[in-house]
Amino acid sequence: MINYCEMKEEIEKVIAELNELKCKTQKDVEDARVRLLGKKGEITQLFDEFRNVAPDMKKEFGKALNDLKKEAMAKIEEMKTNAESTKSGASKNFDLTMPGVPYELGSRHPVSIVRQEIVDIFRKFGYDVAEGPEIEDDYHVFGALNFPPNHPARDMQDTFFVSAGHEDPILLRTHTSCVQVRCMETMPLPIRVICPGRVFRNEAISARAHCIFHQCEGLYIDEHVTFADLRQAILLFVHEMFGPDTQIRMRPSYFPFTEPSSEVDVSCNICHGKGCNICKGTGWLEILGCGMVDPNVLEASGIDSKKYSGFAFGMGLERIAMLKWQVNDLRHYFENDMRFLKEFDSATEV
Ligand code: DAH
Repeated sequence: MINYCEMKEEIEKVIAELNELKCKTQKDVEDARVRLLGKKGEITQLFDEFRNVAPDMKKEFGKALNDLKKEAMAKIEEMKTNAESTKSGASKNFDLTMPGVPYELGSRHPVSIVRQEIVDIFRKFGYDVAEGPEIEDDYHVFGALNFPPNHPARDMQDTFFVSAGHEDPILLRTHTSCVQVRCMETMPLPIRVICPGRVFRNEAISARAHCIFHQCEGLYIDEHVTFADLRQAILLFVHEMFGPDTQIRMRPSYFPFTEPSSEVDVSCNICHGKGCNICKGTGWLEILGCGMVDPNVLEASGIDSKKYSGFAFGMGLERIAMLKWQVNDLRHYFENDMRFLKEFDSATEV
């Protein structure tokens, strides 16, 4: 038989221990649980001893023990949650209203923005988008496009040759016009396609020239296509790209693959034709080359030039971006300088 004082003393000892209890880690909490409430735990043992308490004291000690057990269980539970949240790095006083860590969005490269705009505009006009290989053969880059065998563009000065010295050398394409040829070879007529892509030229790098740049080619072949259709297509494109008040001017030019050929200028949207340093006082900015596809080019790809005619155009994406945002040095596009790229944050459409 355990006497009143002994039982009371033992219960008070455990209460004191419980009040003092502090646990840092989950392991500390589990150890404390086993020590107090485990099979041989202090509180479990007190319950065992309860059997030996005199009947007239059972009511008082029964309540005291049950309260003690409840309190111990609640405290262990509380310590468990606190130890857990400490582990995940959050404090007990975690402020759920605090702003989160911002996820920094990148911005699209100006050349990608321009390419996407051009693609969107021509898609609206019903054009497909095609891509071709950057490493091409001489035939697709020059031969099929009516370049005579001794044309200076074939010279090592302008073209990066991958393997030269045989009948059809392999090279890095110097323009996207070769994708026209691949489209004419493979697509059913009529063809309405634009071909954006990267091109390479053996140029010394400067503010106005680079050995890598981007172009977008356009090609439309059908029956009865005329120069008036070409002019209208370009005018519509320019209005979408630079605004409805923009005017175009077509100057005669020469390309081996088009006849007649033309270069297109747009009215300067900075000075509206008055003349400024962007348009070098002329009021006009050159944006692309174009023309009616030479019958030799159609025939080289197996298209009947008596039945079909077409127009083609090609523009430099860096140049369009330069005009759009007044970028004054081509090298900025390739240097990955974050200060430059960040300038286009707000121009990035989602
Ligand atoms: N390929 C020409 C260049 O790189 C651009 C060009 C001019 C493309 C006239 C065309 C065109 O399709 O018709 O300078």
